[in-house]
Amino acid sequence: MYEPRVVSGMRPTGSLHLGHFHGALKNWVRLQNEYPCLFFVADWHALTTHYDTPEVIEENVWDMVIDWLAAGIDPARATLFIQSRVPEHAELHTLLSMITPLGWLERVPTYKDQQEKLADRDLATYGFLGYPLLQSADILMYRAAWVPVGEDQVPHVELTREVARRFNHLFGREPGFEEKAREAVKKLGSKKGKLYSELRTRFQEQGDEEALKAGRALLNEQQNLSMGDKERLFGFLEGSGRMILAEPQALLTESSKLPGLDGQKMSKSYNNAITLREDAAGVTKKIRTMPTDPARVKRHDPGDPEKCPVWQFHLVYSDDTTREWVRGGCKSAAIGCLECKQPLIQAVLAEQAPMRERAQRYLDDPTLVKSIIADGCEKARELASETMREVREAMGLNYS
Ligand code: TRP
Ligand code: SF4
Repeated sequence: MYEPRVVSGMRPTGSLHLGHFHGALKNWVRLQNEYPCLFFVADWHALTTHYDTPEVIEENVWDMVIDWLAAGIDPARATLFIQSRVPEHAELHTLLSMITPLGWLERVPTYKDQQEKLADRDLATYGFLGYPLLQSADILMYRAAWVPVGEDQVPHVELTREVARRFNHLFGREPGFEEKAREAVKKLGSKKGKLYSELRTRFQEQGDEEALKAGRALLNEQQNLSMGDKERLFGFLEGSGRMILAEPQALLTESSKLPGLDGQKMSKSYNNAITLREDAAGVTKKIRTMPTDPARVKRHDPGDPEKCPVWQFHLVYSDDTTREWVRGGCKSAAIGCLECKQPLIQAVLAEQAPMRERAQRYLDDPTLVKSIIADGCEKARELASETMREVREAMGLNYS
């Protein structure tokens, strides 16, 4: 139950492009080999900003899942699901809302930022204010250890930690906690119980973080403890009450950022994107017509890669040799811009060929995608119902 899970979501508001691939998806593909992962389509989150154009969301849900699969997300490794098909997310959101101070939400930087940025939409809604708390519910539901997100989302993960802490503080204090925890220690067996107690003392008396880590690892390995006992032992280790909800950490993508064709952020609405499964002719044309260093008016004018969006692409796609060739050739005007772009066209096409191929299977047979999602939703709901059982009980809702 406490294995270090990864949870992340994406809003289905437009077709995915190479910026998403290099900024997030590539990372997901890597993570699925290292951790149990849950990736979901955040359709409710999309509704918070696109409530007046729900058709946009509907159109993009399945396309986005195909994009994920095309990028190499493997449904045999990662659990893929749709947020709105796991209604427990809404229930947890409601319950968390009872204990979340308004100020915490008003202070989240994306709240004011997005309202200003998307000034054409009325975002003075309850749903939009609650957006980060819904995200907290998404994360806490699966007791995620890691949440791969972009920089702008880090405050949402911080809020999630604060909410978890508050929840555990308010509801993790059961009567007789200490005795119950000591009983649970006994269930570890004498050897492990002794080790656990030593690690606990070392952490609580000397603040030894290594001991805390070792203690958590020990608990993570336990197969035979009940959920309740595990929560008690996690909490007891740190000196708090039961740890019903686990505090997650953001996992910042260190992967390269790929800007758009014009050097701005890549975005469909800026018309500067190459979509993930763009056809070869489109890719070629878009790169060939990319703007370059404006100083290179004529073929023999020297240029500066630092002032050219094409260079940003080389930073993502080219090896050192090619980059040296570009730098030297550009500054001395030994190469022309079309020549400079040629290896990029090759590299992008080579990257996309397997994606297009993988996508084709799903385009030919859409029922495959639906059944992947149906399986994923079922798995997610199983995990979610375990958490909700604990949460309802902790909040006094398990009366009959
Ligand atoms: N807010 C995220 C974004 O806009 C999407 C999202 C929703 C999410 N729920 C999440 C990301 C939970 C990580 C975890 O990118
Ligand atoms: Fe840009 Fe390459 Fe042209 Fe230089 S040679 S301006 S880096 S496209």
